[in-house]
Amino acid sequence: MSSQPKVLITQDEIKKAVARLAAEIRRHYQGKQPLLIGILKGSFVFMADLVRELELPVEVDFVKLSSYGAGTETSGKVKVVQGLKTPIKGRDVLVVEDIVDTGLTVSFLMDYLRKKKPASLKLCVMTDKPSRHEVPVTIDYLGCTVPNKFIVGYGIDWNEKFRYLRDICFID
Ligand code: IMP
Ligand code: MG
Repeated sequence: MSSQPKVLITQDEIKKAVARLAAEIRRHYQGKQPLLIGILKGSFVFMADLVRELELPVEVDFVKLSSYGAGTETSGKVKVVQGLKTPIKGRDVLVVEDIVDTGLTVSFLMDYLRKKKPASLKLCVMTDKPSRHEVPVTIDYLGCTVPNKFIVGYGIDWNEKFRYLRDICFID
């Protein structure tokens, strides 16, 4: 794999997508105090942009799940490595994720959170690779779809590299 990222979605396009998502979310959660749950580490940049665009009194928490390890293929087995600090029973919960590939990670997390009886549970994803889904995933708020390429930047890494890139890029 060559490690020279090429731009797929520019920072301007990202900004517009985040503003559009924030407007949708703001409308749906008017008068509520949603709890946004980011999946570490990849969601941290998207989460930071989203909460500042939302202009809602949100709270934020994070979970860390094990998935890829050091490779580029999911192991298929997902585990909670670091759980929630906030009780979610009766809360309006919005999960924030950087990228959906096979869908195994988000589908696991949504099932895990649903058992804790939140008042509502929705999913906001910055990038989705629909051609790669192995399980059905309902994305309530989607930034952009991306082709079946290895994505980096805007929080997303390849072996911990490239998270800092402002654009969403791909590597061959
Ligand atoms: P899934 O369980 O196969 O949907 O994979 C989800 C997780 O794998 C994401 O949260 C990412 O951390 C990672 N991932 C999936 N696709 C990519 C990619 O193209 N680049 C970097 N990480 C990815
Ligand atoms: Mg992730």
